[in-house]
Amino acid sequence: MAALQPNLYLMDNKALFNIGYGLYVLTTNYDNIDNGCIVNTVTQVTSNPLQVAVTVNKGNYTHELIKNSCVFNVSMLTTETPLKVFEHFGFQSGRSVNKFATCEEEHRAVNWVLYIPKYTNAYLACRVNKSIDFGTHTMFIANVLDAQVLSDKPSLTYDYYQNNIKPKPQVENPCNGKRRWECKVCGYVYEGDSLPDDIVCPLCKHGKEEFEEIIETTAPASCILPNLSDASPTECLKTDQPNQEDNNKAQNITAMEQIKLNDNIYYVGVNDRRTDRFENHMELPNGVSYNSYLIVDEKVALIDPVEAGFIEEYLFKIKSVLKDRKVDYLVINHDEPDHSSSIAAVLREWPEAQVVGNAKTFAPLEAFYGPVANKKVVAEGETLTLGKHTLQFFMVPMVHWPESMVTYEQTNGILFSNDAFGGFGALNGGVFDDQVNLAFYEDDMRRYYSNIVGKMAMQVVKAVEKLGGLTIKMIAPSHGLVWRSNPAWVIGKYTQWSQHEGEEGVVIVYGSMHGNTGVMADIVARGAAEAGVKEVKVYDVAKTEVSFILSDIWKYKGVIIGACAHYANMFPNMNLLTHEINEFKPKNKCYGIFGGMSWSGGGVKTLAKYAEEGQWNLVAENVEVKGAAIREEDWDKLYNLGKTVAEAIKG
Ligand code: FEO
Repeated sequence: MAALQPNLYLMDNKALFNIGYGLYVLTTNYDNIDNGCIVNTVTQVTSNPLQVAVTVNKGNYTHELIKNSCVFNVSMLTTETPLKVFEHFGFQSGRSVNKFATCEEEHRAVNWVLYIPKYTNAYLACRVNKSIDFGTHTMFIANVLDAQVLSDKPSLTYDYYQNNIKPKPQVENPCNGKRRWECKVCGYVYEGDSLPDDIVCPLCKHGKEEFEEIIETTAPASCILPNLSDASPTECLKTDQPNQEDNNKAQNITAMEQIKLNDNIYYVGVNDRRTDRFENHMELPNGVSYNSYLIVDEKVALIDPVEAGFIEEYLFKIKSVLKDRKVDYLVINHDEPDHSSSIAAVLREWPEAQVVGNAKTFAPLEAFYGPVANKKVVAEGETLTLGKHTLQFFMVPMVHWPESMVTYEQTNGILFSNDAFGGFGALNGGVFDDQVNLAFYEDDMRRYYSNIVGKMAMQVVKAVEKLGGLTIKMIAPSHGLVWRSNPAWVIGKYTQWSQHEGEEGVVIVYGSMHGNTGVMADIVARGAAEAGVKEVKVYDVAKTEVSFILSDIWKYKGVIIGACAHYANMFPNMNLLTHEINEFKPKNKCYGIFGGMSWSGGGVKTLAKYAEEGQWNLVAENVEVKGAAIREEDWDKLYNLGKTVAEAIKG
């Protein structure tokens, strides 16, 4: 009977050579260190969102840097690549050699990582969103932030490299008289008097067992070895001519429906419905928008760029308005990367643009993205005339970072407020407040406020007071709706939230391992409802992400928190919520505490510690229940806890 299974003991690893690998230079930058290596493991994994994977040996310095930086570029080599490029990137370690000592800085992509401009036909700029540990290697899965075609030369395959670039076995008595061993896995050739026992192939990291001595029998080396004199080792880091990537792209963009705020002021923002969590911790069930605005006058000003992952759509929108014109000023109201991370891509398109910021803008900006060439530093109240439009700048420190400022467009009374007056929620067709049902956005606005700028509520109040002297006809924030019909509505909401004006309602949050503390929460809720409070919200802290709970805590006056014991402490998920409460310090609240003891207690004790540290206004006795709430006295205490807090908020 014929064997159906392959004989594993006769497996020929060379079968793997028949996989159609390409060859790439993988580059990264961490802490101002540039490095790169040769890889053959790049694959596209999804198209929407656009993701690629690359697998890297853990021994490589490039691996170490990517683990820290979470950014990399893939430069795709062509068939014209000389051996010197492989020797430069593959046969030496960045730990001992600076492989980019002679690089040209302009070849940095949007993620501030260098790409290889010569002997390549394209590059991808990527940010890692997941990594998988495979023991000896790590697979990095990354979003593609930018992709550019550099030439029409054919891509280099591993097979082509083996047959046309890699040196062939040499003749007897090679030029230098040394013996040679070839790595059977990748083709690397070692020269020396003998093969060291501890040799590790610098390309594929295999050991001595994979090396085979080359027995040379054919023509002179000089006939076979490629002519290496046609390329210096680092020639690939420079371009022969100015990079002409897509320089006619703007001409080819057809007209699209443009969103106008006023005469020559355009909305050019983007929607993000693919990021799961804002700042990687707040869930985004409705997405978020990164707003940006373009003022076209005698001079062109672009107000705040967008998150780098949306650069292609963003540039398309700008170019559809500008056609042949250029951006003269790029205003950076705020350095946080959800806005600023596309700055390199914008400046690559319009390198003469002046970057407008204040005295605190540029140090963090350059720490994130490297040197900014054309800076324009503006002071409090300073103006910048574009032609018919004049911009004026006001500092709003800590709304949301120390360098935050807003830009006031005097001619039409438009306030470009950056994070202030913003909200979560992608813009579903309606960009302006009069085009949507505000009830849909209000909860996501408050969640944005309470989790992002609420900690700096006093600074928000000061900012609102400072801007009160301006005639504001429209508010154009960097997230969420543009307020053209009723800016007073959003100013009123922000003022209310900043002044901690809670509504009548009780938020009950519990952490429960086996459901007993959850049952207690229901008894507490009955007490609150029976006291006449109609807005009673009960949350399981293990189920509802904290930003939603903090938003409701900000909204309502009553807060009752329950946690079961977990060893000698409390249910672990509750620690994040209580930490956030003490970090953001919502005021004018009436608090209560309860929980289950399990065998030794710890839940209520830990909550009481947080309450003391955060100076919570506890209006009722803490309730701690042994085991489950199966005794009448426990029911009474829990019920009365809810009732007492409810009565306290009703005054
Ligand atoms: Fe939307 Fe603080 O950045």
